Amino acid sequence: MLADQFAEIFRDEHRQVRDTLLGLIRAFQERDLSRVRLLVNQTATLTGPHFRYEEEALYPSLVEIFGEEYIEQLYGDHDRAIRTAKQLAQLAGQDALAEDEVSEAVRGVRSVLPHVSDCQGLAIMVECLSDAQVQAILDVRERSLEAGLNLLEWADTVRARAL
Ligand SMILES: [Fe+2]
Ligand SMILES: [Fe+2]
Repeated sequence: MLADQFAEIFRDEHRQVRDTLLGLIRAFQERDLSRVRLLVNQTATLTGPHFRYEEEALYPSLVEIFGEEYIEQLYGDHDRAIRTAKQLAQLAGQDALAEDEVSEAVRGVRSVLPHVSDCQGLAIMVECLSDAQVQAILDVRERSLEAGLNLLEWADTVRARAL
């Protein structure tokens, strides 16, 4: 079943994002700025194509199941995650972090975590889509990976939605 294939890919991507975010919390807490920078970049690299195919293909396909309102909430989660990613990139660029900046960063990363698990849950609804719909989502995923824009590059150029 194509939906199973999708679910496997989708879960792997969320795992990678989850582990990167959890590592980022630790790196901020340990004030390990070189690791913070590495993981902030890794987060942007992983989430760029992922958010892109979700917004361009997956989320629109799920409107027929959830209705507009919940899907709008998912786009809103992405808006907030992008704003947080920008704040984190700024903090990562500093020479040192003050106590309150570490707390702010940890709060910021944690604010994104619920979307990772909420988004993972969508796989159960993807099972209700036709193979043609799932294939279309996988095709857009391929194209997003090929384009290879990281989260901030995509958000600042291709993404039409205002933050
Ligand atoms: Fe996701
Ligand atoms: Fe998402």
